[in-house]
Amino acid sequence: MQLTRLRGFQDTLGAQARSLAAVEDCARKMAERHNVGEIRIPVLERLELFQHSSGETSDIVEKQMYAFADRDEAETTLALRPEGTPGVVRAYIEAGLDRSDPEQRFYYAGPMFRRERPQKGRFRQFSQFGVEIFGRADAATDAELMVMIDELRRDLGLELNFEINSLGDSECRPRFRQAVLEYGRAHFSELCEDCHQRLERNPLRLLDCKIDVKLAEAAPKSLDYLCDACRAHFAAVRELLTDAAVPHAVNPRLVRGLDYYTRTTFEVISTAVGAQSAVAAGGRYDGLVEALGGAAVPGSGFAIGVDRLALALEAARFASYADAAVIALGGAATRRAMKLAAEMRAAGLRVELLSPGRGLKALLRRADKIGARYAVIIGDNELGRATAVLRDLKASTQNEVAQHDLVAALCAGGGAR
Ligand code: HAM
Repeated sequence: MQLTRLRGFQDTLGAQARSLAAVEDCARKMAERHNVGEIRIPVLERLELFQHSSGETSDIVEKQMYAFADRDEAETTLALRPEGTPGVVRAYIEAGLDRSDPEQRFYYAGPMFRRERPQKGRFRQFSQFGVEIFGRADAATDAELMVMIDELRRDLGLELNFEINSLGDSECRPRFRQAVLEYGRAHFSELCEDCHQRLERNPLRLLDCKIDVKLAEAAPKSLDYLCDACRAHFAAVRELLTDAAVPHAVNPRLVRGLDYYTRTTFEVISTAVGAQSAVAAGGRYDGLVEALGGAAVPGSGFAIGVDRLALALEAARFASYADAAVIALGGAATRRAMKLAAEMRAAGLRVELLSPGRGLKALLRRADKIGARYAVIIGDNELGRATAVLRDLKASTQNEVAQHDLVAALCAGGGAR
């Protein structure tokens, strides 16, 4: 037997691990800026938690769960979490916050598990960075969630598109659901196998069916069924997004694969990562806390697919993994280079001092291999003049810079993120 990793599971190392860490670091900083605090929850939960929240008829619960019976007497059914939202809601209720202090803002980061068909950007274990906000029903909260993702997008230097929709609330959504159900019944013979099976139980899934695309496009649209309050809420979200300069498009087919959404839903799409292009998604879930046994507290949030954003980063060639590779030619230069590298790191730059004793050519190849943006080269001549050669490895240009100006020159070139 060969002890290899499981299909759909990855080992992440080197450059890839750095991209993942870069996304997570940026996301944490963004969340902290918005006064969102961390929550850590278990990876393993009761299966029923997901059945009662993600939804019995969602693909996640129906087809993708890693679930098994525990060895206890009751044979409790456990599941590896496929998403973070249900666990966060459970923890929020279990801590009594829904009654004692309902307005809360949490973020979480960690592995999720879905037994999907693996392909580029789709894994069976993947990492999410999520934010959940409780006790706020206002449109500004929905807009802020997207502003957060937009800030992260900017920090990472990526191009992303926002798509939004509104699914209505407990007042208007049943009318919309009924309209889609009747539409599905009228076209029953044309529906795919999956839609046949789930039409009566969860008709809205017809709208995001990847097979019945034409039928889905012609189906009733939630926006035509919104009650006045939901219509006003959606308009306010859009206005706030426009004010915040977050470009967005309305996608009436955006129903999302999870059952708990009400009102605003959104997806964030990258054009750089292939078929699995949704790099983040979320929305409002005003009934979920109550459905899981808590008080009637509104909620909303999103989760970023950290692996997919990391792929987008690599595709955008941000992937300069080090700001500078420091190259010392000779023993005396090495002592000076150690000091300079320490100064650069103190300024927040990512710096590797390359192993001395090899020729310049080999060292420049190494600098390229580690993805350094700049090479800082110090030989005897530079040492004598208190300078260094600063080589821009992207532009293939170089100039001589005074050693005391090096940090400023590197930061001006886009380092110290
Ligand atoms: P979701 O759309 O199922 O929503 O997942 C959010 C993101 O996780 C996706 O947009 C995608 O980037 C990433 N993702 C999902 N499945 C995979 C996979 N198999 N491989 C790689 N990446 C994946 C949720 O999970 C909701 N809990 C989001 C939310 C939070 N809504 C409100 N609060």
